Amino acid sequence: ANTNTPKSDKSSVLQPSLPAELYLDPVVYQEELRNIWYRQWLYVGRTDQLPRPGDYILQTIGDQSIIVTRNEDGGIRAFHNSCRHRGSVLCQAPQGQFRQGRIICPYHRWGYSLNGELLSTPFLDLSNENKNLSLYPVRCQSWRGNIYLNLDTSDSVELGKTADPGFTVLNNWPLEQLKLGHSHQFELACNWKIFWENYLECYHCPGIHPELCKLVPLYKAALSTDRLDPDTELADTVASGIESWTTTGKAISSPFPDLSEAECSAGHTFMELYPNQYIVAHSDYIRQVSIIPLAADRTRISAEWLFSPEAMARADFDPTPAIAFSKQVLDEDAMVNELNQRGITALPHQQGYLTPQEGDLALFHQRYKAWMDILD
Ligand code: FES
Ligand code: FE
Repeated sequence: ANTNTPKSDKSSVLQPSLPAELYLDPVVYQEELRNIWYRQWLYVGRTDQLPRPGDYILQTIGDQSIIVTRNEDGGIRAFHNSCRHRGSVLCQAPQGQFRQGRIICPYHRWGYSLNGELLSTPFLDLSNENKNLSLYPVRCQSWRGNIYLNLDTSDSVELGKTADPGFTVLNNWPLEQLKLGHSHQFELACNWKIFWENYLECYHCPGIHPELCKLVPLYKAALSTDRLDPDTELADTVASGIESWTTTGKAISSPFPDLSEAECSAGHTFMELYPNQYIVAHSDYIRQVSIIPLAADRTRISAEWLFSPEAMARADFDPTPAIAFSKQVLDEDAMVNELNQRGITALPHQQGYLTPQEGDLALFHQRYKAWMDILD
């Protein structure tokens, strides 16, 4: 990229943010697809969304459509949604089942196995052709019940490499056993980086999230983490007496059994998997949010609430306080995400500034520049 980013002046309280065109320009968006989204691991769904062989879900990123299915041996496989004959799309419904274990092209009805091998070609004998006409494979891996795919064929990035602070931070949560209790998808009229930037700071929290600030005193002080201010006496935990992120402050079920005392009393443990997902683990439930860009100024968000199957089986289980609370926070953030996008289109706006409370955005921008080959 030939985008010049503003130089930082270390003596200044305000550091430059990214140039406005990186949030607005459709050409930059295409470059981001190629340099980031077609190269990094992307969350697809939970393994229990594909219970039987032949069940599939489609994932779309940019102009790429990917089929993720379960084969006869129980393995999860992913393929480009493109026939090897003349390239027709193979399936259109966002999810479904391939009957009799065959992926049949709707155009001339070439048929493929759930491992992608070409098995049948009507009115045609290809037994003497020595071409590999299997479906184009896509790398696909599961981690603790989550399925991820990566369009890069080169093996260059291993799953979890962009996890911050790392997959191990969730070791004590029984993530693979949890069940999807609720999900919520919506589109935001903003660039995907605006969503991340807002997620990464709590400078906005006192004004935008009054309820959340009652739960977490650090956020009321406009800090997203105690790392940002060595002098703060506030810990990165919920207030005393608060058990979880719910409308009542009470947990919706007993804590996951293997959590340490500190993990329980912290009330929240975060893990980011750049560029596409973050996971927030509470003592009683997990919320995971994934992000897919749709255009320079449009982003699809998908939030999922995961609960323990034992808790869900109880007659008196009521997850509403957990779902309602985090939906409210998502809504509050959605509002400012869209305000932010609208404002940066102002003709004289070249770039904004980062305050010390927004230190984690600078780290995100460094990661972004490295992906995009933008020199500082
Ligand atoms: Fe699929 Fe012809 S394009 S069978
Ligand atoms: Fe927020």
